[in-house]
Amino acid sequence: MNSKKIKIALVFGTRPEAIKMCPLVKKLKNNDKFEVLTIVTAQHRQMLDSVLELFEIKPDYDLNLMRPNQNLWDLSSDILLKTKQVFEKENPDLVLVHGDTTTAGISALSAFYSRIKIGHVEAGLRTFDKDYPFPEEINRVIVDSVSDLMFCPTDKACENIKKSGIQKGIYKTGNTVIDALLYVIKNKKTDLDFINLNPDLKTILLTSHRRENFGKPLENICFAIKELIEKNKDIQIVYPLHLNPNVRNTVKPILENIERVKLIEPLDYIPFCNLMKKSHIILTDSGGVQEEAPTLGIPVLVLRDETERPEAIEYGGVKLVGTNKEKIVSTVQNLLDNKNEYEKMSKAINPYGDGFACDYIEKAILEYFN
Ligand code: UD1
Ligand code: UDP
Repeated sequence: MNSKKIKIALVFGTRPEAIKMCPLVKKLKNNDKFEVLTIVTAQHRQMLDSVLELFEIKPDYDLNLMRPNQNLWDLSSDILLKTKQVFEKENPDLVLVHGDTTTAGISALSAFYSRIKIGHVEAGLRTFDKDYPFPEEINRVIVDSVSDLMFCPTDKACENIKKSGIQKGIYKTGNTVIDALLYVIKNKKTDLDFINLNPDLKTILLTSHRRENFGKPLENICFAIKELIEKNKDIQIVYPLHLNPNVRNTVKPILENIERVKLIEPLDYIPFCNLMKKSHIILTDSGGVQEEAPTLGIPVLVLRDETERPEAIEYGGVKLVGTNKEKIVSTVQNLLDNKNEYEKMSKAINPYGDGFACDYIEKAILEYFN
């Protein structure tokens, strides 16, 4: 009986991959047609563990690869060699990876070298600019090139893959992040007292961690925040700082000890979702946050020049602002002052799915192996 099961290994390593893959781990584990293995690279450590804990998932393999301020070369070679060992030992029928991180790109390559079928969750996202985001755009291209099954969040993502010449194995599923978000909103409650928010002020939530924003662009973002705080006495800014030292070392000297700016540690997923819900505006360069916020009706201003998520902009909940200080200040100010504009953005529909992406992926896998 056991030998007939489809053996699926899900490989992930960072916070956003974990948030988007854990609901799928749970879904597949509930189906006795599958034997499910969870392999974490631990490209992230604390930020990964907090998500595993939330979803009560104990990995079968923990490669424990994170190093302080790690670089792409060492991390990539570690992932390639360590996943090879696990793939050789377990010989799964299918390896599932997620998105565009180093874990995704290198694990997919490793599975390809091991001649294992590959499924890409969150397939087909593109900016068509290899330098933005770096190195994620190339990771996506690598993963889609070696994949047999591609689970695309939107029609546009499906089209991107078809344009590259691949025609088979493409499924529109929505994004599993909506499955995760709805699970948390429905089932998990928490309070945010520990952040000490002033209930009389409007909260602006900020996150920024992208490599291409390190240095000057991130400095611009911080100076824009300073100016907005000086101009608007009725706002407070909350910035959960990513653990990457390249982020912290730039942000802290500019924004530490500024009145109404709260620099806090990364939040666990439940409090973060609750903080998004309570926010008036979100400023971010995060991929996942752009996908989640429209479900909560919170306008998002994206601190990047290019996007692989144009749907949210078309639907109206998200605006691309870039990292120019004046542009950030004027766009936020407009959203604070202009009620109509604010209403329009907050009422936009979310294009990233209905919360059943994991069901569609499960169905597609069964169809493929039958
Ligand atoms: C990575 C991904 C990025 C993704 C982001 C999500 C790559 C190249 N980058 O970027 O696509 O958007 O994760 O957050 O795959 N650190 C800790 N503890 C943690 C996590 C990170 O201390 O739990 C610190 C470590 O010093 C680590 C550093 O952050 O070396 C950088 O981590 P890394 O995964 O290389 O890059 P991110 O900027 O997190
Ligand atoms: N997130 C979180 N705590 C935080 C910041 C973000 O749980 O302090 C969640 C967020 O809701 C989203 C995901 O982490 O689901 C996004 O991760 P990140 O921005 O690090 O990566 P990206 O999505 O840009 O790859």
